[in-house]
Amino acid sequence: IPVEPFDLVVFGGTGDLARRKILPGLYRRFLGGQMPPESRIIGAARSEMTEDEFRAMARAAIAEFVSADKRDAAMIDQFISLISYVAIDAKGDGGWATLKGMMRKGVVRAFYFSVAPALFGALAERLHDHNIADAKSRIVVEKPFGRDLDTARALNATLAKHFREEQIYRIDHYLGKETVQNLMAVRFANILFEPIWKAQYIDHVQITVAETVGVEGRGAYYDTSGAMRDMVQNHLMQLLCLIAMEPPYHFDPNAVRDEKLKVIRALDPVEHQDIVRGQYLAGGGQKSYVDHSENPASKTESYIAMKVHVSNWRWKGTPFYLRTGKRLRARTSEIAITFKEPPHSIFDDAEGWRENVLVIRLQPNEGMNLMVMIKEPGPGGMRLTQVPLDMSFAEALGEDGADIPDAYERLIMDVIRGNQTLFMRGDEVEAAWAWADPIIQAWERKGDKPRGYEPGTSGPEDALMLLHRDGRRWREIR
Ligand code: BG6
Repeated sequence: IPVEPFDLVVFGGTGDLARRKILPGLYRRFLGGQMPPESRIIGAARSEMTEDEFRAMARAAIAEFVSADKRDAAMIDQFISLISYVAIDAKGDGGWATLKGMMRKGVVRAFYFSVAPALFGALAERLHDHNIADAKSRIVVEKPFGRDLDTARALNATLAKHFREEQIYRIDHYLGKETVQNLMAVRFANILFEPIWKAQYIDHVQITVAETVGVEGRGAYYDTSGAMRDMVQNHLMQLLCLIAMEPPYHFDPNAVRDEKLKVIRALDPVEHQDIVRGQYLAGGGQKSYVDHSENPASKTESYIAMKVHVSNWRWKGTPFYLRTGKRLRARTSEIAITFKEPPHSIFDDAEGWRENVLVIRLQPNEGMNLMVMIKEPGPGGMRLTQVPLDMSFAEALGEDGADIPDAYERLIMDVIRGNQTLFMRGDEVEAAWAWADPIIQAWERKGDKPRGYEPGTSGPEDALMLLHRDGRRWREIR
């Protein structure tokens, strides 16, 4: 279903995110018939560049980041004709009058802040002062949204001077991933899971986001961030919220976000002994983390594993184990929910018994897998064995399943539709920082050093202990 025609201004239009995600994503939505041809995309950045030069850059981005089967020459030409460019001085006056002149009446106006957070305030102010944004306009802000509670609060306050909360779309691209949204469908559109979705029946939950890439050219940024700020405070926290939240009364932006917020507020402080930080070493012809960061004494973590407790009636006693890291054995993200033993076994084959595990695979090969016990076939008596009820979206849904839109594509269309369900509200971000801050501050106070780990493994050995201690084990990363 096409969205309303829009004018989308991409600040930071020449940047990496615009080239990799925003422009290619918009092209795919155009190809899919969702972006109406009456829409326009206006790149805005510091560089003095002609419209033709910017269009050439967009064309190159599509050639590089859109798969060959989706590159239709006529459609690309048509898409490129919707693009224009304005050189803008975020902190001065240059270009703003021109931008104002480019805005049309009667279409949705959206402004994507794909720039350093230090510029968010200046952009919001100028959009307002130059009367470029109207009451229906939307702004989209990228992470990092602050680096602690104080900076996030200041940022929220700055944006709030010129925009209402209903106009602010804070991106966490994990919420745009198909399977992440499916989590809500699985939980709340089936009767099957919800009755047992609680500490009484769930032994523990593992959330894993493993990457094979290192920090490469992003070393300078990463050294100011680390895995805790870059991944846990946002992406893993959002996944945890979707698993742990109470059913919202409706699939409505504020109803969903209210429930997520309650989960974040229910998180216990994390004890020092329940966290393992790691940093990848050199290996396999690849550089180490400190080589990438260019600070030989860097204490920044590229890996983190932790045990988290959600202190409420539903979850008391069920730990959530989170881990994420770079340069690990495989690129795999999944949520695994391990259920408890049946209260009483009627079978003698205790050895054959395994726990039920529901695995929700985010990437690759999005899908779900439920491990169930059955009888081992054959005449050998009542012996038990475990088998997977495995579903891959691509297989189950045929072409529709194979054509899953990228998180950014979906989220940008949601901005135009005015649907904030998959965006973080200001209070949610602040609550997540309020939880993360004391953890980070404790490391800084202690001068905590991450453990080195070999690239291509599943992280530091100590992370294994985190679960062994509790009589559990991590699922394999593969
Ligand atoms: C980004 C982080 O938000 O998410 C990166 O800044 C990380 O460090 C990336 O690599 C992971 O996203 P995805 O979609 O590839 O899992």
